[in-house]
Amino acid sequence: MVEWEEIMSRFGGYEDQPFVAEYYDFNPVYAERPDVEFYVDFARSAGGKVLELGCGTGRILIPTAAAGCEIVGLDISEYMLAKCREKLQKQPREVQERARLVRGNMTSFGLEETFRLITVPFRPFQHLISLEEHLACLCCVNRHLAQDGKFILDLFQTDARRMYDPVYAEESEGFSEVELPDGRKYRQTSRTVAFHRAEQYNDVEIIHYVTHRDGKTVRLVEAFPFRYFFRYEVEHLLARCGLRVVELFGNYDKSPLEDDSPEMIFVAEKCENREDAQ
Ligand SMILES: C[S@@+](CC[C@H](N)C(=O)[O-])C[C@H]1O[C@@H](n2cnc3c(N)ncnc32)[C@H](O)[C@@H]1O
Repeated sequence: MVEWEEIMSRFGGYEDQPFVAEYYDFNPVYAERPDVEFYVDFARSAGGKVLELGCGTGRILIPTAAAGCEIVGLDISEYMLAKCREKLQKQPREVQERARLVRGNMTSFGLEETFRLITVPFRPFQHLISLEEHLACLCCVNRHLAQDGKFILDLFQTDARRMYDPVYAEESEGFSEVELPDGRKYRQTSRTVAFHRAEQYNDVEIIHYVTHRDGKTVRLVEAFPFRYFFRYEVEHLLARCGLRVVELFGNYDKSPLEDDSPEMIFVAEKCENREDAQ
């Protein structure tokens, strides 16, 4: 038997759907992302405090603190922060002391300190749909970035087929079924339910199937709009907020951005103080 739970969320479902945080760390695709060392290396060489926007359950924040770096994690979702807190409590005291968690929106935060490194790992920026939100977030970054600090913005490289091809409307498997520690089985699929090409976003669903030990399967739908970006659009956005791109990678091995690169990873520095976008 299948049960339904569905609601369209604004920031990826993280802030209003507790099941998203509950299953996040059991997703092998997330757990195996090859980005952790990339961020930890940047944090080690930053020479000061790090701010992670959209820190989630601490997939990157905890290894960063464990590597000896002080880090503040900001996230809009109390559910994701609660998971992160729970995981931090299992860390040695000195690691816990190097990490601070703050609930907030990355478009309107004020932390009254500056950071040597600000990061947005694994695409939280793509949950911001409007131009006003993008500029508000990047101006907040400008205000919180030390004069010689670095900002790393991590987005996927847009594959144009994903903007219109009906093949993406079909439900496709994200990974094969895994067993949860309590014996339940878990798998995930995803699909695009609407293309909004003129506004550069898709309505997306991530569908979680959880099979209980009595054989009952629950179907949980995380439905949200997801924005896609193009390389020069991002460079212009950054420039409007006083940030200049100094490096651009196509993957976490620091290879250059090419036609078939999966990611667009911008490393930027502050070239001007900006309260508001120009
Ligand atoms: C894909 S997860 C990434 C989490 C973490 N950075 C990682 O790499 O595993 C996206 C995170 O962004 C957060 N998020 C989405 N919109 C946000 C916003 N406007 N302000 C702050 N956090 C936001 C979500 O709550 C979620 O924890």
